[in-house]
Amino acid sequence: MSLPLISTSILSADFAHLADQLAQVEAAGADWVHVDVMDGRFVPNLTMGAFIVAHCKRITRLPLDVHLMVEQPDHLLPDFVAAGASWLTVHVETCPHLYRTLQTIRQAGCKAGVAINPGTPAAALDAVLHLVDLVLVMSVNPGYSGQVFIPEVLPKVAAIRQKLDQVNPQAVIEMDGGLTAETLPAAYRAGVRVAVAAYAVFKHPQGIAAGVRALRACLPAEETPA
Ligand code: DX5
Ligand code: ZN
Repeated sequence: MSLPLISTSILSADFAHLADQLAQVEAAGADWVHVDVMDGRFVPNLTMGAFIVAHCKRITRLPLDVHLMVEQPDHLLPDFVAAGASWLTVHVETCPHLYRTLQTIRQAGCKAGVAINPGTPAAALDAVLHLVDLVLVMSVNPGYSGQVFIPEVLPKVAAIRQKLDQVNPQAVIEMDGGLTAETLPAAYRAGVRVAVAAYAVFKHPQGIAAGVRALRACLPAEETPA
């Protein structure tokens, strides 16, 4: 896997034309498709489940990057594995048995991620950093696309990167929320190597391909084995 990567979140996509929209994303050179699963409890919004992931699997070759914003996600994991998720990310705030949850994801053959809200300190991840393939640092309060980037999370990225370098240097940091051509450069400098974007891609005034290109233009062409 070469870094940095762009993971386009279908939360802002036109679901009446999802296959066409994902074809545009793929043709424009995006790397992953990000699926935001929300339960109306952990976050206020209610979105999509494994059923949508299974449909995405049929219409794109890109890896499916599934972000689970649900309380106690453990019982849902088998469905998302079966639906074809490549990456499964759970929130540290939702998992009373986080160590076991991450192990379950890996044992199922998926890459395991842990997400952290803007208001949660980096230290909450210390005990599991060696168990993850990805840390997802939220740069908005999760729930909706099109929110304003919270720059105060950037020092947390740098702190997590330092800790990962000691215990798990292969793991990558993903950022999610409010990323645009304006906010992405600072995120990259802090250590972000996977950029999630919904609004900046699917609502770009010049179209999806222009949205992907605008983000890509902010990132160096870097080859990093991970
Ligand atoms: C926010 C979701 C994000 C969201 C990002 O709760 O987890 O993935 O879709 O949307 P933008 O890029 O529009 O901030
Ligand atoms: Zn997300």
